[in-house]
Amino acid sequence: MPLNTDKSKSVTDALMSRITVRDFLDKPVPQDLLKEILETARRTASGGNLQPWRAHVMTGETLQKFTNNAMENVKSAVDEGETFRAYPSPLWEPQRSWRYKLGEDMYALVGIERENKLGRLMWLANNAKFFGAPVGIIITGNVKLEMPQFMDVGIYVQSLMMLAREAGLHTAPQGWWRRHPQTVNKYLNVPKDEQVLVGLAMGYGNPDAPVNNLWADRAELDELVHFYD
Ligand SMILES: Cc1cc2nc3c(=O)[nH]c(=O)nc-3n(C[C@H](O)[C@H](O)[C@H](O)COP(=O)(O)O)c2cc1C
Repeated sequence: MPLNTDKSKSVTDALMSRITVRDFLDKPVPQDLLKEILETARRTASGGNLQPWRAHVMTGETLQKFTNNAMENVKSAVDEGETFRAYPSPLWEPQRSWRYKLGEDMYALVGIERENKLGRLMWLANNAKFFGAPVGIIITGNVKLEMPQFMDVGIYVQSLMMLAREAGLHTAPQGWWRRHPQTVNKYLNVPKDEQVLVGLAMGYGNPDAPVNNLWADRAELDELVHFYD
């Protein structure tokens, strides 16, 4: 299914047309539109109304410097540390297979074989450029946050992703940035007691990029949802 770049007219439409976009057009997002999205996302619910997210929104020169620095560190294999591990280790089934399938489907679309480890690593490094998006957002939270607040942050990210679709934009949530705390601290004004939780690329999705045809599988309804009458 090709990437839907229309402006979503309903929540269902926004949800159904959203995918993680990993190739963005070189087209800026108007600053007032960006501001409106962030303004509206303030309405996101949070337990106890803690609003535990802090969004650091980069465009222009700052984004350029930030992504250059991240890319340099990737190229020179600088270990910046990690705020949180991406997944439990080892992963169990069926999640392990779902993760594996996602990777295989993605690399098949971009034509990088399993044996081509360097090619796959280089492809992954596109994360460091926010996949070419004109907007890069780093979301931080206080180091003392508990699990319920992480859920609030997830809801906030979903708000941003849905509002982006309504504006004809696409997004890529990126846990990748949890492994780049030094780059974050160098360019952004993150207080000492805050740490990186997640990143979000935002911009106009490239409908011609093969990787943007990746429609990740989903479990059937009865695998994950139980109705009780
Ligand atoms: C919190 C979070 C972190 C993610 N981190 C990354 C990432 O660092 N790089 C990436 O390419 N995709 C990342 N993804 C995208 C997931 O792989 C994607 O959401 C999942 O495969 C479902 O596909 P879809 O978003 O296209 O529907 C992340 C998604 C979420 C929700």
